[in-house]
Amino acid sequence: MPATHHWNRFRVMKRLLILNSKGGCGKTTIATNLAGHYASSGTSTALLDYDPQGSSQRWLELRPEKCSNIHGVFAGKPTQGGVTRSFAFRVPGDTRRIVVDTPASMKRLEMMEMLRTASAVIVPVLPSAIDRHVTLDFLNELTTLCRQMAINLPIGIVANRVRINTRSFKMLKETLEDFNIPLVAFLRDSQNYVHAAETGCAIAELKQPTLKKDQQQWSILINWLETGQLPSPIPPTSKQMQHSMNLR
Ligand SMILES: Nc1ncnc2c1ncn2[C@@H]1O[C@H](COP(=O)(O)OP(=O)(O)OP(=O)(O)O)[C@@H](O)[C@H]1O
Ligand SMILES: [Mg+2]
Repeated sequence: MPATHHWNRFRVMKRLLILNSKGGCGKTTIATNLAGHYASSGTSTALLDYDPQGSSQRWLELRPEKCSNIHGVFAGKPTQGGVTRSFAFRVPGDTRRIVVDTPASMKRLEMMEMLRTASAVIVPVLPSAIDRHVTLDFLNELTTLCRQMAINLPIGIVANRVRINTRSFKMLKETLEDFNIPLVAFLRDSQNYVHAAETGCAIAELKQPTLKKDQQQWSILINWLETGQLPSPIPPTSKQMQHSMNLR
């Protein structure tokens, strides 16, 4: 199936789900930076925070007035006064990108509900051994659920907090080779993310020259989301090299 298989259907409005049951892998970081990227490029954007901890919501509260508006919806607490969930979580009619931040642990039914309405899923993963293993279980769960629901969503893995020449990143790439889900981008480990989180801004909106590398890495992720194009391959792992040598 070509990587672009779903996009034409979502030209008008896309709902981008950031999902991984592993805590601390970068869901909120990616959700807030993605929302900031779209808003600052003139796209009408909403940020839905399904996490009771409300970290995305807090980031929105910190957002300086000079930054482009993002419509925030805090969906992490049960609604009061008999207002139905769908009404409470409505976004303005002209919204073009809805970014959905989710909590680390979600019930199966809740996840199914979110998958049903999503245009694409981003799974952030940290390269450490613990994170790799937990994420593999999660990817199995996610692909099984999509199969059972008969939905064919674009799902992309984003390796987060990457240090490029480390053994863990190499191991992560090798682990993912056995999966049918592409590694669509990677983001380096950088204090720029900590700074962005503290100021209510996105990497795309900050000006310092030290952000260039991070902005380049983001453009690869955005390109995948908007066109379905995968980045040019990251240098092969030793497992791949060995495999190609055996084929000779
Ligand atoms: N690329 C990065 N470089 C440096 N720090 C990062 C990066 N990505 C995330 N962090 C930091 O790691 C911590 C966890 O990230 P984040 O809150 O985005 O994870 P999460 O998946 O949303 O966690 P939770 O499951 O608790 O909601 C935060 O302090 C964040 O600033
Ligand atoms: Mg979070």
